[in-house]
Amino acid sequence: MTEYNIPIAKTQLTSDEISSVLEPLKSGWLVQGPKVGEFEEKWCQFTNAKHSIAVTSCTSALHLSLEALDFGEGDEAIVPAFTWISTANVVEHLRGKVVFCDIDLNTFNLDVSKIEELITPSTKVIIPVHLFGLPANMEPILSIAKAHNLKVVEDAACGFGSQYRGRHVGLFGDTGCFSFHPRKSITTGEGGMITTENDELAKKLRCLRDHGAELSDLQRHVGPRPYLLADHPLAGYNQRMTDIQGVLGSTQMDRAGKILEERRQLASNYNDAFVTLEWLRTPTPTPDLIHGYQSYPCLFAPQKIDLKSVADINLKRNSWMEKLQSIGISTRPATHAVHMLSYYKNKYGLKPSDYPNSYIANDCSVSFPLYNGMTSSEQNFVIDAISGATF
Ligand SMILES: Cc1ncc(COP(=O)(O)O)c(C=O)c1O
Repeated sequence: MTEYNIPIAKTQLTSDEISSVLEPLKSGWLVQGPKVGEFEEKWCQFTNAKHSIAVTSCTSALHLSLEALDFGEGDEAIVPAFTWISTANVVEHLRGKVVFCDIDLNTFNLDVSKIEELITPSTKVIIPVHLFGLPANMEPILSIAKAHNLKVVEDAACGFGSQYRGRHVGLFGDTGCFSFHPRKSITTGEGGMITTENDELAKKLRCLRDHGAELSDLQRHVGPRPYLLADHPLAGYNQRMTDIQGVLGSTQMDRAGKILEERRQLASNYNDAFVTLEWLRTPTPTPDLIHGYQSYPCLFAPQKIDLKSVADINLKRNSWMEKLQSIGISTRPATHAVHMLSYYKNKYGLKPSDYPNSYIANDCSVSFPLYNGMTSSEQNFVIDAISGATF
């Protein structure tokens, strides 16, 4: 009998992609040079964004976006309570106040009906997250933002290939922020991209990522007076992507469609196999949403799910995850309820039940393995193990 050891995610790079990293090493241009430029250009073509600005991570993309929008001390940001912690951390880094908003359990995304009641005179920005590749409900978010004169920074860390009403995510807000961490569909090890339609903002973001320089090294070197240094109108950061990362991202973009198609097929196999399991709620895109399937998060609901049953379901989920691990199938909770993590719980005096759906998602969600290169025998093994479970 075959022994399985199926990870939750796995990086798949072609041999051409692997050898492409030698190009910048041989050329000697290692940081934010022509290869980063190529990657940004391909990102613009793929998403239809006007500007794409490569940075060191999605976290730095979010941080620079807020800073470029003059978000600072005392300003409030509305953030989903169920997300990766850095969506909230960047607000703290800029000495702002995190205002959590609960999520919709059907999508794991912001519950848009709860946003308006959180707005105060200090609210400056809404940060919707397209969690796991399922687009957030942007239309109501944008109209609330417009009515209250708020900025919108999209956390599209998992949003590669995700579309809302025919348009790639990341193009709706003031900026969109993407991640190239190895758990994402395209990876540069660490890395991120900011998209924006706003020329002024793009200029400021390019300046902020590069120590506040008004010209990049590449622009200076190919320009008329390469021997003169640039001015620095801002006190910026070093958030430059290397060309080694840039070429890795750029070469993967050449098979972007295939990468996404394979993930959608894997997700569709799971959807078909699990449709009859009443105790498992699978991701549910509506016809106007295209899911990028960065991962495949489900809600484990072997009994009616509410604040009374959550602890009991959590115990059952954890022992089931343990059982799956013992037969070689990795699973994970989908992500955190950030308000339950010590820093936020203590700083803001929060209880799990303050954001009940996020609490439920934290304790009752489970993601199954999904990665490019997953074989049908691996996926069938996962499907059989899940479909055969009883609770
Ligand atoms: C929703 C969300 N936001 C932000 C991030 C941070 O991305 P990075 O690791 O590129 O900083 C992640 C990473 O997993 C994420 O899932």
